[in-house]
Amino acid sequence: MIPKCFGRVVLMAGVAITSLTVPNLQIVARDGTALEANQASIAAAAELVPSRVKAHSLQLTDAVVANLTAHRIPGASLFAFDAKPTTNAKCKLFPGDADWPSKPLWSIFNLLTGNALIETVPIGAVCYENSGYYSEPACKELLAGWTKSDTHVRDPTSVMSPLFQGETCHPARASANTTCTLGGFPSYVVNITNVAQIQLAINFARNAGLRLVVKNTGHDFLGKSCGAGALSIWTHHLNSVEFAKGYKTPSWEGSVFRVGSGVQGKDLFAAAEREGVTVVGGECGGVGTAGGYSMGGGHSPMGGLVGLGSDQVLSLDVVLPSGRFVTANETHERDLFWALRGGGGGTFGVVTAVVVKAHPKTPVSGVTFTVVSGKETNVTNELFWKVMYAYWRRFPGFAEKRSYGYSTVFPAAGEGYSWSMLPWLVPGMPLVEFKAMVKPLLEEWEEIGVKVEPKWFEYDSFYPAWKGHFPEEGVANSDLRVGSRLFPKGAWNVTSRRDAMFDAVRGIIEEGSALIQYNTKYEAQAGTPDSAANSHWRDAIWFAIVGVNWIGSGLPETEVARLNRRLTGDWMKRLREYGPGAYGNEGDVMEPDFGEAFFGRSYKRLLEIKRKVDPTDLFWAPTAVGSERWKVQDQRDWVTTQTGRLCRV
Ligand SMILES: Cc1cc2nc3c(=O)[nH]c(=O)nc-3n(C[C@H](O)[C@H](O)[C@H](O)COP(=O)(O)OP(=O)(O)OC[C@H]3O[C@@H](n4cnc5c(N)ncnc54)[C@H](O)[C@@H]3O)c2cc1C
Ligand SMILES: *[C@@H]1O[C@H](CO)[C@@H](O)[C@H](O)[C@H]1NC(C)=O
Ligand SMILES: *[C@@H]1O[C@H](CO)[C@@H](O)[C@H](O)[C@H]1NC(C)=O
Ligand SMILES: *[C@@H]1O[C@H](CO)[C@@H](O)[C@H](O)[C@H]1NC(C)=O
Ligand SMILES: *[C@@H]1O[C@H](CO)[C@@H](O)[C@H](O)[C@H]1NC(C)=O
Ligand SMILES: *[C@@H]1O[C@H](CO)[C@@H](O)[C@H](O)[C@H]1NC(C)=O
Ligand SMILES: *[C@@H]1O[C@H](CO)[C@@H](O)[C@H](O)[C@H]1NC(C)=O
Repeated sequence: MIPKCFGRVVLMAGVAITSLTVPNLQIVARDGTALEANQASIAAAAELVPSRVKAHSLQLTDAVVANLTAHRIPGASLFAFDAKPTTNAKCKLFPGDADWPSKPLWSIFNLLTGNALIETVPIGAVCYENSGYYSEPACKELLAGWTKSDTHVRDPTSVMSPLFQGETCHPARASANTTCTLGGFPSYVVNITNVAQIQLAINFARNAGLRLVVKNTGHDFLGKSCGAGALSIWTHHLNSVEFAKGYKTPSWEGSVFRVGSGVQGKDLFAAAEREGVTVVGGECGGVGTAGGYSMGGGHSPMGGLVGLGSDQVLSLDVVLPSGRFVTANETHERDLFWALRGGGGGTFGVVTAVVVKAHPKTPVSGVTFTVVSGKETNVTNELFWKVMYAYWRRFPGFAEKRSYGYSTVFPAAGEGYSWSMLPWLVPGMPLVEFKAMVKPLLEEWEEIGVKVEPKWFEYDSFYPAWKGHFPEEGVANSDLRVGSRLFPKGAWNVTSRRDAMFDAVRGIIEEGSALIQYNTKYEAQAGTPDSAANSHWRDAIWFAIVGVNWIGSGLPETEVARLNRRLTGDWMKRLREYGPGAYGNEGDVMEPDFGEAFFGRSYKRLLEIKRKVDPTDLFWAPTAVGSERWKVQDQRDWVTTQTGRLCRV
C-alpha cells in the first residue's frame, strides 16, 4: 500500500540535512543552502491511516521513522520504535544534565509533532511580578477561579492537588520576595490531538532517558499527573464522543459510547441524556471518564446497578511504551485488556480512546438532608453520633438494594459537626419505594430525638438528578492530604467488632479529620470479563475518605510533619484493621503496602504484565504498579511529592 500523506509529511524539502547550527536553528542542506528549521522545512511526522476516530488517523509508522533517518533529521534515532534507552542510568534525566536534550533538539521534536510542544509556564506565573508573565487582570481571574476544576483542566500542566507539585508557584503566595519556579511541574508538554504525537513523545522519552508523565484533567489526589523534569503527554483535547447501537463483543451486545480519553464525565453524561441511555462516570463532572478514573476503578452513582467504571470498558486503544499503537479488548492483547481495567493510569501506556457500555435509561430517586450538632443547635455531639451509628448500622441492607449514599462530615461552628447527604439515591428505584426504604431510619432518628428534614427528588433519568442534586466540585486546596479505606460487608458480622469499627472512624473525626463517605456496592454485571480492578472493591459496602489539612495554618514544619505522620501511621493504621483495602485513586500516597491495599489480589499479575509491557519502566507514577522500583529524590519522610529527580531504588 502506498502511504497517503497528511499535509507535508515530507521532512525536508527533498534534501538531506548535513548540519544544524545552534542556536539559531539553521539547517544546511547537502547542496549548501541554508534553511531555517521551521514548519516549511520540517513538517509533522505522521502518516494518514484511515480510522473512524479522527485522532487515530495520524500515526507514526516505520515508513515515517525511516524517512527521518533518510533525511538525516538530527536526533532521528531518538524517535525510533522499540529501541532501548541509550543509557541504563540510575536516574531519569533532569534539566541541566549533560545529556538533557539541547534546545534545537526540542525544536525539532516540536516540529515533528506539528507544533504541539509547549514549554511549561506554571499556571501561577501570571501572579509573580518577576516571572516575565505577570498580568494583574489574569492573576485576579486565576485567583477567583482557583478552586474550580476547569481552571486546572484547561491548563497544560496544572494539577488539583498542588501539594505534590510543591506549591512553588502558588498564585496566592506571590509577593515581591517570592519567585515562581517549576517545582514538580514537567519541563515540557505535548498538547495531544493525534496518535502520532503520542508515539513520538513516548519514543523520544524512552530513547533519550527522560521522565514521562501523563496528564488528563489533573484530578489525581496523589501527584500522579505531574513530575519534575518530565515530558508530559496532555490528553485533554482527545475529546471525541460517538454513540453506537448494536456493538457486539463476546460479553456484550448493545449500545456503547466510543470516547476519546480526554472526555470528562459531564460531557458523557450530557451525551447519554441526549441518546436516552445511562453511563457511568465520577460524581464530579470534571473528572475524566476514560483516563485515570476508569483505569483506576471508578466509583459512581450508577455503580450499584452496573459495577465499577472499569467494568464498563469493552475496548481500549493504547500507545504502548514501545511506541506501538494497539487495541486491547476481549480478543486482542488480553493481558493488557485485563490490566487497563483497574490496574491504574500512567502505567501501561497512553490510552487514546475507549468503548464503554451505554445502559438503558434509568429513573433516579433520592434525598438530601443535613444534620448539625454543637452549641448553636439542639443536637449534642452524643446525639449526633447516635444518628450516624443508626445510619452506619444499616449499610449492609442499603448496599444490597444498590443504594448510593454520598455524604460528608465537617467540623461545624460551636464545636459540633455538620453532616450533609449529597445525595443519597437508588438508581432505578421509584420514590415511593425509596421512601419506604429510608422510613425506618427516619423513625429511629425521631425516637432518639432528632428530626431530620429530608428533601426528596425523583426523575426519569440520571442527568437531571445529577445536575440538580450533586454539589459543584471544589478543588486545588493546598496543604491537604487524604487517605481512604474500603470496609467490607463482613465487618458487620460481629456486632462488637462492627461497633469498634464505627468508634474508630468516629475517633478520627473527633481528632480533627473530615469524612467523605460512600455507602455502595460495586459488583460487576454478570458476564463482565475478569479485570484487574481492586478485589477489595467487590466486597466493600463503605468507602471512607479521611484527611489532614494545615491550610493557611502557618504551622511550623515539625507540626505539619506530625499531622502527616498521624494520617499514615495512626489514622490509616487504626482503620486498616477493619478495611485492609483502599482506593488508589483517592488514597494515601504513603500507604505502606500499596500493592495489597490498592490492587488486592491483582497485584502479582499486574507486576508481571508491567514487566513485559514496559521493561524499562518508562511509565512511572507514585503508587502505580511497579513504582516501588523508583524513588523521587530529596523528599521529606512524611510525604512524597513530585519535586525531585526520579531514580532507581
Ligand atoms: C473533585 C474530585 C472528585 C472525584 N470524584 C470521583 C468519583 O466520583 N469517583 C471516582 O472513582 N473518583 C473520583 N475522583 C478521583 C479520580 O478518579 C482520580 O483523580 C482520577 O485519577 C482522575 O483521572 P483523570 O484522568 O481525570 O485525572 P489525571 O489526574 O489527569 O490522571 C490521573 C492518572 O491517570 C493517568 N492518565 C490519565 N489519562 C491517561 C491516559 N489517557 N492514558 C494513560 N494514563 C492516563 C495519569 O497519568 C495519572 O496517573 C475525584 C477526584 C476529585 C479531585
Ligand atoms: C518520505 O519522504 C518522501 C520524500 O520527502 C515523501 O515523498 C514521502 O511521502 C515520505 N513518506 C512518509 C511515509 O512520510
Ligand atoms: C518579604 O519582604 C518583606 C519586606 O522586606 C519582609 O517583611 C517579609 O518578611 C518577607 N517575606 C518573606 C516570606 O521572606
Ligand atoms: C491545544 O490544542 C488544541 C487543539 O489544537 C488547541 O485548541 C489549544 O489551544 C491548545 N492549547 C494550548 C495550551 O496550546
Ligand atoms: C478487538 O480489536 C481487534 C483489532 O482492532 C478487532 O479486529 C477485533 O474485532 C476486536 N474484538 C472485539 C471482540 O471487539
Ligand atoms: C431548639 O429547641 C427550642 C425548643 O424546642 C426551639 O425553640 C429552638 O428553635 C431550637 N433551636 C434550634 C437551633 O433548632
Ligand atoms: C460474614 O457472614 C457471612 C454470612 O454468614 C459469611 O459468608 C462471611 O464469610 C462472614 N464474613 C466474615 C468476615 O466473617
